[in-house]
Amino acid sequence: MKSLSVSNLLGIKYLQLEDLHLIFETATHFKEVINRPIKKVPSLRDVTIANLFFENSTRTKLSFELAEKRLSAEVINFSISQSSVNKGETLVDTVNNILAMKVDMIVIRHPNPGSAHFLSKHVDSCIINAGDGTHEHPSQALLDAFSLKEKLGDLTGKRIAIVGDILHSRVALSNIYALKMLGADVKLCAPKSLLPKHIQSLDVSISSDLMKTLNWCDAANMLRVQNERMDLNYFPSIREYTQKFGLTGKLLKKLRKEIVILHPGPINRGVEISSEVADSDQSIILDQVENGVAVRMAIIYLLASKIIIPNI
Ligand code: CP
Repeated sequence: MKSLSVSNLLGIKYLQLEDLHLIFETATHFKEVINRPIKKVPSLRDVTIANLFFENSTRTKLSFELAEKRLSAEVINFSISQSSVNKGETLVDTVNNILAMKVDMIVIRHPNPGSAHFLSKHVDSCIINAGDGTHEHPSQALLDAFSLKEKLGDLTGKRIAIVGDILHSRVALSNIYALKMLGADVKLCAPKSLLPKHIQSLDVSISSDLMKTLNWCDAANMLRVQNERMDLNYFPSIREYTQKFGLTGKLLKKLRKEIVILHPGPINRGVEISSEVADSDQSIILDQVENGVAVRMAIIYLLASKIIIPNI
């Protein structure tokens, strides 16, 4: 059986191209499984997984939980608001206590960049990063790339635009790593104030002209303005942001071709994307959500088969 080159999923940065292909191949199989009348397989019957969400989530939390249940794993969920973290317990102590209850894998979302990596160095378990602050969101990038491949085929040479709040986005960084590894041409479109200083080192092109970017690309991934991570004003007003960087039906109609529209969610309707675009035939937003379960099943299955139950 083929296996991943890693024992944790900390970021796309740590994966090889072969890992991406293996995850996509396995996810294709699981997508077929979850579309059957009986959506479950017994593969992870003896595996217990803890989902630790220290930050809000709808899609990622439910998608991981469903993926685990579709694989027949035992699942426990941890929410910070009801935990002893509020009494001063450290992250490592919290996780070691959970692991002492014979938990096999940890899925963690945390507001601090590097938290999943830190945990992997300090506890003896398989760690899956479900989003660490503004750093990486690897399972999102994998489901985005999987969804793009379904629409566009091989991504080599395909032109993919990532539009919006790149500075505060873990989705952007993971997408850049994944798309570049798959041979795509990546362009970022954002106000200068919403681009990180190190962006030149990532070998992507940059634009602040949305119309030119849309005419250039085969697909556009529209990112949310992350007001909750902003400690100051990065643009004059939401209205002005939307005028320059918001994707509307009017803009799409002006294009000389049809492009694929992605959004990782949650959507701010009428800010970075209009309802007309989000609900249009060109939008694959709900396909991304559907594929998220299959891709996360693949991630969990491949990591479990490698380090916990080598013979499944
Ligand atoms: N895409 C994404 O991470 O959404 P949630 O914050 O709802 O998990």
